Amino acid sequence: MAFLSDTLSRVKPSPTIAVTNKARELAAAGRDIIGLGAGEPDFDTPQNIKDAAKRAIDAGKTKYTAVDGIPELKAAICTKFLRENGLTYTPAQVTVGTGGKQILYNALMATLNPGDEVIIPAPYWVSYPDMVLLAGGTPVPVVAGIETQFKLTPEQLEAAITPKTKWFIFNSPSNPTGAGYTRDELKGLTDVLMRHPHVWVMSDDMYEHLVFDDFKFCTPAEIEPGLYDRTLTCNGVSKSYAMTGWRIGYAAGPVALIKAMGTIQSQSTSNPCSVAQYAALEALTGPQDFLAENRTLFQRRRDLVVSMLNQAAGITCPTPEGAFYVYPDISGCIGKATPAGKIITNDEVFAEALLEETGVAVVFGAAFGLSPNFRVSYATSDAILAEACTRIQNFCASLI
Ligand SMILES: Cc1ncc(COP(=O)(O)O)c(C=O)c1O
Repeated sequence: MAFLSDTLSRVKPSPTIAVTNKARELAAAGRDIIGLGAGEPDFDTPQNIKDAAKRAIDAGKTKYTAVDGIPELKAAICTKFLRENGLTYTPAQVTVGTGGKQILYNALMATLNPGDEVIIPAPYWVSYPDMVLLAGGTPVPVVAGIETQFKLTPEQLEAAITPKTKWFIFNSPSNPTGAGYTRDELKGLTDVLMRHPHVWVMSDDMYEHLVFDDFKFCTPAEIEPGLYDRTLTCNGVSKSYAMTGWRIGYAAGPVALIKAMGTIQSQSTSNPCSVAQYAALEALTGPQDFLAENRTLFQRRRDLVVSMLNQAAGITCPTPEGAFYVYPDISGCIGKATPAGKIITNDEVFAEALLEETGVAVVFGAAFGLSPNFRVSYATSDAILAEACTRIQNFCASLI
């Protein structure tokens, strides 16, 4: 009898975490490493949020809570959805979990049966296909390439839907491309979904607040009220409020789905950390000026990185609408050789050689379902980004 489960053979460890670990190891061994792999803001959680957590500890809010969130936080989440997205939900339609990741996982575990298909636009966040597989479903990646700025077209969505489609996962702004759908672009997709009433929508709005220029964030249930009864609108405090370690994510949707997700959670992690819930409550109800300051900072970094990467030989880097990632295309580098004689056959080899020869750690595109590309997380200082991009430029110039 095998010790490890068959389920395990269907999934792979997160490549983004693997890159971060490799970069850490090399740095620990004394190498001069610049890590552009991590998907988290580089600054600290705002002080008012940390203070709220300290107050919660001192007030003894350190016991089990209701499985899917304390009532105060659920109420704050309802207020947030109304204030920022024009969506009306009651607390019974809201669930809180241990990070956005657990929210998505609960939803898939609660709904997927063998044979159920989940449409995932590629490039995608690395965890979507693996979570679908873990839950026993079938991921259906649909590639949206650089020619459509990494955005799925209505025709592509229509063609991917089958009688077995259960979910369409929508992520805007996107990890790994930063691409954000305009209202018109999203309306094109929701019009398709209105013609297929058996398909549910999982909208992952994790990067909602990280949008640039005059881009206006929008979410499917807001754009098409006809989808409200089959949409799970997912969000969290990790990226917007620099709270990745606190592990709080949330979602709102139809009561029956929310209840089913609570059942899964009750038998896995029980409630999300009590103290972190009070911190998230402060994040959602406290001063919000932090968000605008972040946007300005990240936009400046995006502009720096896009401009410098587009000056690297063989690289084309589109300008994304949001998040803190860019996803340059490296077609012009494929087939060339490094000075050490290594042939760049694909983006994984490119990323490996870049790390070995220049100390810059990025995540290769194949991990996200579209090659040849790599993902840069620009959640680090201007000086470090400029140095990293200079090294990438020099590396590309050295290829023959
Ligand atoms: C698109 C997307 N969704 C969800 C998550 C999960 O966020 P959390 O850290 O809250 O679990 C991430 C984190 O990288 C993400 O990029």
